[in-house]
Amino acid sequence: MTNSDIIKKINELRKIRNAVILAHNYVIGEVQDIADFVGDSLELSIKAAATKAPVIVFCGVSFMAETAKLLAPDSTVLLPEVSAGCPMADMASADAVRQLRKQHPDAVFVAYVNTTAAVKAEVDICCTSANAEKIVSSIPADKEIVFLPDQNLGANVAKNLQREIILFPGYCPTHHRIDPAQLDAARAQYPNSPIVVHPECPVAVTAKADAALSTGGMLKYVRESEAKSFVIGTEVGIIHRLRKENPDKEFIALAPSPRCLNMKKITLESILKALENMQTPVELPPTLIERARLPIERMLAIK
Ligand code: 13P
Ligand code: SF4
Repeated sequence: MTNSDIIKKINELRKIRNAVILAHNYVIGEVQDIADFVGDSLELSIKAAATKAPVIVFCGVSFMAETAKLLAPDSTVLLPEVSAGCPMADMASADAVRQLRKQHPDAVFVAYVNTTAAVKAEVDICCTSANAEKIVSSIPADKEIVFLPDQNLGANVAKNLQREIILFPGYCPTHHRIDPAQLDAARAQYPNSPIVVHPECPVAVTAKADAALSTGGMLKYVRESEAKSFVIGTEVGIIHRLRKENPDKEFIALAPSPRCLNMKKITLESILKALENMQTPVELPPTLIERARLPIERMLAIK
């Protein structure tokens, strides 16, 4: 089947199923192009919470589909490729959080949304890379904070807010391996191009960048910037949307280009199969949904 045959079938089925297709900024371009909405983790959570659609096809990784299920428990949330996980989310277990609680009984536990539902059920509040500073700032200054699982996002927030934060040793393999020397090389080669990276990068990297932003923040930064070309230091999938929305601007991926293989697992074929066979639904016990939803709702309530 050609891509246009597959798209035709997807379009027929999404109507029959009354399905909404949500996609993260990192997924492959052809999937972004057929989605009803493309966004960063925070924007996708807000969409999921607001949707009345009985079926959500989530094109991203499993913690995102789980988050959608927590916020839209009455919808069937399909993850078209069940093995699309997030290695960083898998670094923190619910048990590890419970152990840390014993060591820091008075601390506020902040979990990056890149966590499993089981971990969310153990924490006080969630954040995404778009609102991490706002969420941490909402915690009284005299409170101890434990931040998990991303040591880099936590360290960037601690540095920017000049606040002490206890960091869990997790990291995103895609962003953690970005080296400051890559930014030096890009700066030398493209001196007039702002370098924009993701706050999942180490502090030594964000310190050399012009901006460290969530994927949604990057789209806004580029839209509002006078610059004509940009070096992008995050998962390369976002370059598709940057080019599409800014045809007069140039985007250069930091070399070697950061890639998350899990984000590339959802294809047009897997979306079609998901809609044909209603696979694979996110199934979470109702009691877990109740507990894991709370920290996300607390996050969404902070304006
Ligand atoms: P954002 O889209 O929230 O910036 O997140 C990036 C990410 O790593 C998702 O896995
Ligand atoms: Fe997880 Fe990193 Fe991939 Fe995002 S880019 S899904 S944080 S491994």
